[in-house]
Amino acid sequence: MVTTSKRDLVRAAAKARQRAVAPYSKFKVGAALLTQSGEIITGANVESASYGLTCCAERVALFNALTAGKRNFVALAVVARAPGGPMPCGACRQLLAEYAPDAAVWVADSRALHALEEFSVSELLPAAFVEVPRDSD
Ligand code: THU
Repeated sequence: MVTTSKRDLVRAAAKARQRAVAPYSKFKVGAALLTQSGEIITGANVESASYGLTCCAERVALFNALTAGKRNFVALAVVARAPGGPMPCGACRQLLAEYAPDAAVWVADSRALHALEEFSVSELLPAAFVEVPRDSD
């Protein structure tokens, strides 16, 4: 039974955002995943001097949750100082399609946490590649 409200999850993402390590872009992002049993697992973006190694908040939260043995995610909140909230990048959408396909995705501007926008994962990444086809021969 999930009793965590949207507001609680968005607040958790906003709090996680404070721990972003974003010395290059200065764009801090926080993410919070909610499991079916009501647990919240958070993450924030971590950047590298070798820019391409940067990991988004969504994936940090997801990897954190998965490697803690969590599954069955019902929602993901993402918060950054961005008009309308930060939209997950393509790489994160792919991982969400694989590991959190049924999660509601709530994005919010850190300056207006109450003004959420909601998306489904399938809306963010239609026709996702989620399984490696196996040769039968
Ligand atoms: N970033 C995220 O963490 N999540 C998003 O949804 C968009 C982008 C991060 C990656 C990088 O550290 C910074 O924002 C600028 O792209």
